This record gives sequence, C-alpha cells and structure tokens, in this order.
Amino acid sequence: MSSSRRQIVVTSALPYANGPIHIGHMLEYVQTDIWVRFQKLRGHECIYVCADDAHGTPIMLRAQAEGVTPQELIDRMHAEHLRDYTDFGVEFDNYYSTHSDENRYFAEYIYTQLRDAGHIRTRVISQAYDPKAEMFLPDRFIKGECPNCGTADQYGDNCENCGATYAPTDLKNAVSVVSGEAPIEKDSEQYFFKLEDFSDMLKDWFAAGHVQTEIANKMHEWLDEGLQDWDISRNAPYWGFEIPDAPGKYFYVWLDAPIGYMASFKNWCDRNGVDFDHYWQVDSPAELHHFIGKDIARFHTMFWPAMLHGAGFRRPTAVYCHGFLTVDGQKMSKSRGTFIMARTYLDHLNPEYLRYYFAAKLGPGIDDIDLNLEDFTTRVNADLVGKLVNIASRCAGFINKRFEGKLSATLADDSLDAQCLHAAETIAGYYEQREFGKAMRDIMALADRINQYIDEQQPWVAIKDNNRMSEVQDVCTVGLNGFRQLIILLKPVLPRLAAQAEAFLQSGDMTWDDLGNNLLDHAIERFKPLMTRIEPVFIERMIEASKEDAEVEKKIQQGGGDIEPLAPEITYDDFARLDFRIARIVAASRVEKSDRLLQLTLDLGNETRNVFAGLANAYAPEELEGKLTVMVANLAPRKMRFGTSEGMVLAAGSGETELFVLHPDTGAKPGMRVT
Ligand code: 2FM
Ligand code: ZN
Repeated sequence: MSSSRRQIVVTSALPYANGPIHIGHMLEYVQTDIWVRFQKLRGHECIYVCADDAHGTPIMLRAQAEGVTPQELIDRMHAEHLRDYTDFGVEFDNYYSTHSDENRYFAEYIYTQLRDAGHIRTRVISQAYDPKAEMFLPDRFIKGECPNCGTADQYGDNCENCGATYAPTDLKNAVSVVSGEAPIEKDSEQYFFKLEDFSDMLKDWFAAGHVQTEIANKMHEWLDEGLQDWDISRNAPYWGFEIPDAPGKYFYVWLDAPIGYMASFKNWCDRNGVDFDHYWQVDSPAELHHFIGKDIARFHTMFWPAMLHGAGFRRPTAVYCHGFLTVDGQKMSKSRGTFIMARTYLDHLNPEYLRYYFAAKLGPGIDDIDLNLEDFTTRVNADLVGKLVNIASRCAGFINKRFEGKLSATLADDSLDAQCLHAAETIAGYYEQREFGKAMRDIMALADRINQYIDEQQPWVAIKDNNRMSEVQDVCTVGLNGFRQLIILLKPVLPRLAAQAEAFLQSGDMTWDDLGNNLLDHAIERFKPLMTRIEPVFIERMIEASKEDAEVEKKIQQGGGDIEPLAPEITYDDFARLDFRIARIVAASRVEKSDRLLQLTLDLGNETRNVFAGLANAYAPEELEGKLTVMVANLAPRKMRFGTSEGMVLAAGSGETELFVLHPDTGAKPGMRVT
C-alpha cells in the first residue's frame, strides 16, 4: 500500500427528499462507493458522507399533495433512501439531512461571514407569482405553450418537444401548476451573492487542476462572460431556513445543499469525537472529494468553492463529474419502463450485477453511461458467473471432497500469483484515477489466465489417477489463491460477493495488503454457489414493474396518490346547510340483484330512515348492525330501482372495497346533530 495514510472526506450529491432513488442516481453512489471502498481497502482514512437534500418548493408542495408535513415527508424519504443505498451495498459513514441543526448553523455562519465581508447585496426583482396560492413560482411550476413551437403543457424553462429554452414569462397562456391560475409578475427584494468577487480566485483554482478539463473549459466560458450575482434567497412560503437578518426570506435550497456536506461531516465528527476544523480549515492536510453529475457542476465548481473561500474554509481537493445514465441508448423513460427505481431493481436483480456493470463502463470523464440491458445480461453472466465464480466452483469441489477442505502447503506454481501482484499496482492506479472500466478489464484478463491454467492442468483428468492426487490439490490451491486475489481486487465493486468468498475461504476480512498472503495448508469451507446467472425474464419483469411504478408516481405528482384533490372551497353557510346526524344502524341486509348495495335501517332517535348504501363490497351486513354512524339527514330522498333512499351514511375511502364507515365516539346518541 502507499506509504502515508491519507485523510480523505468524500461526498456524493445529496438527493432531493421529494422522490425515490432511481438507477440514474445509483450510478453516482456506486461510483463513489467503489472509490471510497478502494481507499479504505488500501488502508487510508476515508469518510464518506451524504444526506438528503430536504428543502425547497417541490418538497413543500409534495408534502401538501400527500397531506403530510414536510418533516414527515423528509423523514420517510430519508428512511427509504437509506434502505435503498444499504441494499445496493453503498456504505456511508454518515447519511444525514440538510434539515438539521448543524446545517442551519453552518448556513447561517457562512452567510454572515459572506455578508460581513461585503459579498452579499440586495436588489428588487420581478418574479412570477401565483396570486391564488399566494406564492412565488419556480420555473418548473409554471406551464404553458412553447413560444417556439406552440406545444401545450410545457414547463417554464424548456420545451420537451423542440428543446427550446426560454424564460417562464415567454410561455403563452401560462398557468401555475399549483393553482391553475395565470401567474402575474410581482416585485420583491432578494439577496444576492456577488460571485464576481471570486473570479480571480476561481481562475487560479481551475488552473490548479481541481476539476476535469471539460468542466474547467466550460467554467472558463462563464468566467469570460463575467460572473453574475447569484440569487440566494426565496420568499415565504418556503420550506427551508429563514435568513437570519431577513424575516420572511429563506435561503434558496441550493445555498444550504452543499453546506449539507459539512453538516453531515460535523454530525459524524461529534458522534466519533473527531475534530471537524482539522478537515475544513484553510490549508487542511485532509482531502475533500466531491462526486456529482455534470448537470450540477456550476454549483460545485463555482458557487461552492467561492462560498467556502469567502467564509474562511478550505476548498475541495477535487470535484468529479460523471455523465448521465441512459438505458438501451436512450434517456430513461417512464413509458418504456426504463425509469427504474432502485427498489424495483432490487426486487428483481442482485445489486452486484449492476455495481459490476457500472464499474465496467465507468471512466474518469463526463460521457454518458449506457445500461444496455442485453449487454448487461451477457457481460455479467460471462464475467462474474462464467469467469470469476467459475474458478472457485471448479476448484472447490475437489478440495472439499477429496482433501477434506485442505489446501496444499506450498504454491506449486507462483507465476499466476506474480502476474496478479504485478497487475495489482496498475489496477490500483486505475481505481485511484476512476478508470474503473480499465480496472475491470485487467481483472477479467487475470481471471481468464487462471481459468486457462486450470484448463491446461485438467485436474478432472488427474483426479482419476491415484498417483496424481497431490497434483490436483496443488492445481486447485493455485486456482483458489488466484480467485482469492481476484476477490481482493474486486472487493470495492462486489462487497457482498467478497464477504461470501471470505467466509468460504475462511480468510478473514482481507485488505489490499493481503494480495500476496497466499492461503496454504489452510482449511476452506464447503463451497456454496456465490452468484447465479441473470435470466432475461428477470429483466422483463423489472421493466413491467417499472411501468407500474410510473403510473403510481404520476398519480402522486398529480395530487397525492390515493389522496384525492380537495373539492372547491365552500363558505360556512354552505356547510351549515348540511344536517349531519348520529344514527344507529338497526338493520342491514343485502339487496337482491345488486352486488354493491346494502339496505340499512337507521334509527334517528325520533324516526327511522331507509338508506341504500354502496357498502356491500366492504362490509358484511352483520358487521354493521347495532353500530352508530353519521348520516346526512337532510338530503332529498332519491328514488332507486329497489326503493327510496332517505339520506346517506358517511364513509371514508375510495372505490368500493376500501371503505370505512364513520362511527362517533362513545357517548353520542341517535338524533344528535353533528357540527
Ligand atoms: O441535483 C440534485 O439532485 C441536488 N439535490 C444535488 C445537491 S448536491 C449538494 F450540493 F448538496
Ligand atoms: Zn417547443
């Protein structure tokens, strides 16, 4: 391993808490997790922190649509997200939330430092405002006709049909997604971060190679155009942190999101007795690496270093951008079923298949990565099952059955061992440089050589000859030690398989330093299959399930999943016209020739009513008899095929099977008015 122990802090971008994790997100977490696991395997101190990005308008509105508080929504999402990562083998040292005390503290601190140093100014600007919902609208919450091609129902920032980009004010017949009302323009004072103050600092920082060349080139274009002020405030109502000296103004979600990296790290420090300042002070010897998607480069390579620098903190060592994930050569698509949620993937396939496939495809650049489902199947089956696991299964049987699980005392042929050790240094360099594809290629080349060695030695022939027994043990010992080395080399990518292999080899928890420590005169466990092949039908099922997920998600986006949108507002007088009464269900029976109706006899204290209610699919008549309920007593009688219905019983729910009749609390009596 390398001579000195590095101290490394690593982050992945913080996912928004308004929706589930999908495999596009997972590309980044897998990339980061592989890099982190590699550093740990090499013996470095590497702390991987992340969090949910828990603020902003979409989260506020989604919570409203679901009928929960933002806190309830973000708590639920946090738990779901963490479960998805864990099941994908992504292992954070801390997974926190931007809606935390630490984050509030650092957001306020950084803001005040910037303000006191003169880097904040205010200005009155005009923005789209929904007069009905009484809120300012982000671009994504305005829809209308594309000013370029006229396509209806386009968002306020770009057209999905012709690709034109524009300002929301350019949309024709624009409406607010929140209320359906036409937005108006409204003035308000906002707080701006003077990014221009940091142009020289950023130029030097880019020149020092902290970002990929493609990204630095793009940033230079922006630098050359002159840096614009960045609006860091939003008006109430907003779900976030209020700006300390500006009541009713909140930090824009993108101000406190990257600060969430610090907050998560601080929370980890406090729980582990570690000195936060050592890692974040200017000139800290520790490294800080951010993994992100190329779409959010500017926030991380301009705003973030400038904020840190302006507030007296260290800047990142490196910001690594990756490209987007496509599936079968196209953008992930809900209708094609290729917008695959992490959970849906996990319901159908082993996460390590995807970790390996991503690794095989990832490089240090910003090109998009394609998940070609046919290639995925072929490659995983060929490499992991056909090459890697095959080595162990070919050798283990002989060792288990014929040698009581014992490996030879010496390594009969050490050339494979030497080749692995030699290749390992190059492979380590590839991991370090995020050249995972090259690392996988070299590792599989080693697997080929080990398989080739076994093919040449033909232990299945030697086993038939009693005089050649030790030869079989020797060959399998070489094979299994080669397998052991491959497992170490692949441990960052396949942690679960590695753990199973370690148990089988009885090797204990192996690190990179164990590459040369062959297992000799050593007992192994019985071999159990380590990985099975991908069958195309698993993929087909996953695609079908993803289409269903898309339907559910659409319902939620449109206003709360199973929660129906609220009916139009009524006045108190409207309400007062309804006469709700407590009634006892004295008799209930099925209605002949109707599958859905029950006939109820209701006692209102001084009269009885006959009511037909659509409860037959939710209740057996005897379940209701004797119970108190609430009815609308002044509804005009309605003539039905079976008789006249004289009122309505109140039940919650939707459809006909999920219905819940309302019952009053103890003490209520038939005839009482419900107000
Ligand atoms: O683009 C996104 O999904 C953001 N939630 C990423 C935030 S990364 C960091 F700055 F917090
Ligand atoms: Zn258009």
